[in-house]
Amino acid sequence: MLFDSHAHLDDKRFNDDRDEVVSRAASGGLAGILNAGADMFSSARAVELAAKHDIVWAAVGIHPHDAKDAREDDYARLAAWCALPKVVAVGEIGLDYHYDFSPREVQRAVFVRQLALARETNKPVIIHDREAHADVLATVKLEGKGLTGVFHCFSGSVEMAREVLKMGFYVSVAGPVTFANARKLHEVVKAVPLERLLVETDCPYLTPEPLRGRRNEPANVRYVAEKVAGLLGMEPATLAKATTENTKRLFGIK
Ligand code: NI
Repeated sequence: MLFDSHAHLDDKRFNDDRDEVVSRAASGGLAGILNAGADMFSSARAVELAAKHDIVWAAVGIHPHDAKDAREDDYARLAAWCALPKVVAVGEIGLDYHYDFSPREVQRAVFVRQLALARETNKPVIIHDREAHADVLATVKLEGKGLTGVFHCFSGSVEMAREVLKMGFYVSVAGPVTFANARKLHEVVKAVPLERLLVETDCPYLTPEPLRGRRNEPANVRYVAEKVAGLLGMEPATLAKATTENTKRLFGIK
């Protein structure tokens, strides 16, 4: 039983068949799907989807891309959602210096504000880090004291993974682990203790091999898990059991 620890079912690319995608995941044996919010609208949709589907849980938060649109009263709304039973994390939050869709100082301010929100609401965080490794690590170290969470779709080095583990955080691996040029990520997978590893799709993005080029969906998390199990020389069922237990432990899912 696998758990897709990071999906965007609220994305418009699922508008025509969202219920079928969820049923396909359930009938394919997924234990759960955690739908991450990216802005206020998608966070609201994540909350709705979690209320509608037994196997869906929600995270709410403002992605660095959308940090420029964050308003002061958004934080009270995020906090109110965090009180709902199926809202299990603040995310995704972080820094994205690849696209720089929001000015960096705004990204940092909104990130820090949401780390504080996670502390106030006693939730773990889901961290997005793209080409901002040093600043994300420094910010979490300084402003994330007492917090736990996951670095989703991990793209850093083994050294960075060790820092993340030292802070008590988890490392989540997505479709890129199946790509031909993923040597660095393969080394990371081997360096992370099994009890700190999660798997995810980040769908509809990052479709794993052998389906690359198509829209991604939660059922495809098995391709990520099979690749990771192969790298670790373990049975896919063993990897599935461990990563699902890790996801439930981190997010307090019964
Ligand atoms: Ni995402």
